Amino acid sequence: MEYQLPALRYHGPIVPSIRVTTPQATYDVTIGPGLLRTLYPRLRKITAGKPPSTYVITSPEVWALWHKRFLNSFPAAARPTTLFLPSGERHKRLATVESLAQQLALAGADRDSLLLAFGGGVIGDMTGFLAAIYMRGIRYVGIPTTLLAQVDSSLGGKTGVNLLAGKNLIGAFHHPLAVLTDIDLLSTLPAAELRSGLQESIKAGIIYDAKLFRYLEQNDQSILEANPATLTRVVTASVKVKADVVSKDEKESGLRMILNFGHTIGHAIEAATHYRKLLHGEAVAWGSIAALHVSLNRGCITHEEFARMANLILRYGPIPPFKADPAKLVALTYGDKKKRSGRRAFVLTTGIGTTEIAYDVTDPELLTATQAMLKTMQQM
Ligand SMILES: NC(=O)c1ccc[n+]([C@@H]2O[C@H](COP(=O)([O-])OP(=O)(O)OC[C@H]3O[C@@H](n4cnc5c(N)ncnc54)[C@H](O)[C@@H]3O)[C@@H](O)[C@H]2O)c1
Ligand SMILES: [Zn+2]
Repeated sequence: MEYQLPALRYHGPIVPSIRVTTPQATYDVTIGPGLLRTLYPRLRKITAGKPPSTYVITSPEVWALWHKRFLNSFPAAARPTTLFLPSGERHKRLATVESLAQQLALAGADRDSLLLAFGGGVIGDMTGFLAAIYMRGIRYVGIPTTLLAQVDSSLGGKTGVNLLAGKNLIGAFHHPLAVLTDIDLLSTLPAAELRSGLQESIKAGIIYDAKLFRYLEQNDQSILEANPATLTRVVTASVKVKADVVSKDEKESGLRMILNFGHTIGHAIEAATHYRKLLHGEAVAWGSIAALHVSLNRGCITHEEFARMANLILRYGPIPPFKADPAKLVALTYGDKKKRSGRRAFVLTTGIGTTEIAYDVTDPELLTATQAMLKTMQQM
């Protein structure tokens, strides 16, 4: 990963760009406010000046809010065709992708066409997957519109859809040509979605970047008010963490697993509450509290470190409470597809900014930590 400032400069502000390098692909993530204003020249630059036929895949909600700004930089003759996906996790299915592929074919999309994934993680995962399989693979550019998509799902090349049997069970690795992350898009995001996405940034601080952790501690008010300058700093630092981790380990054989901090119990909470009660980042927040308890009980972190990390997670709340049997949550952690041959990988923190993967965390240890997490919830 390289950090360049400035990388691209058209008529807009100077914006940082972060390079993701994997064996399959190398691409830049450009981050800043006002990027949509220069979208067309940026796309021309990314596609080496040849304007391909372009299709925006978005949701009616996002398009209603942002289509004017989105289309503004395109000359009339080069305007992209817009195709809609219904928003919501329940539409993240193979049937939706098939219908979209059919629409693309009818609209005349070919091997040289370019897809623009304009939406949150659901749109991004489905558009990336469509790009992976349409005519055996076409190009796409990510233009993420939620904080979660900006700091997490638009990076790393994982694309796919859900099955009734489980989330993200069908998919492919397919990297975007580039990611354009316009911070202004976050101004219309519901507050709960912003806070939920920020939990992934807190995770990035805990596992990898003590400086980001401190920045989140010291600027909470301005970040939670969605101040564009502070959000740009947070998104940039969080993207650097993920870009660095996936650049070193694309297919999750080792290092990439650290991104799963808080997710073992987090995924169990999502499953126990049928993906309805909590947003993903909220479930991860509770899961992170449980992971902090395991780390504390094993002596990996001090009481002060525990308090700093737990306080930061809670400060970016409120995190909604939920009801679940702790033993059931522990049982559900075996549904986590990150387990390797029956062993459950568990990410521990060994201090702010450092981690360790343990394969020997026992069910009783997890039960104790889950009970402690539920106690914290009851005290709120
Ligand atoms: N591929 C990966 O590596 C990866 C990583 C993490 C999560 N994911 C996936 O991401 C998905 C969740 O993504 P998400 O949290 O972005 O949810 P989402 O895509 O459902 O978006 C959340 C809500 O925000 C709305 N929205 C989006 N942008 C908006 C804007 N700018 N202003 C106002 N409203 C806006 C959407 O319409 C939606 O209602 C899950 O399917 C998850 O599996 C993938
Ligand atoms: Zn996550």
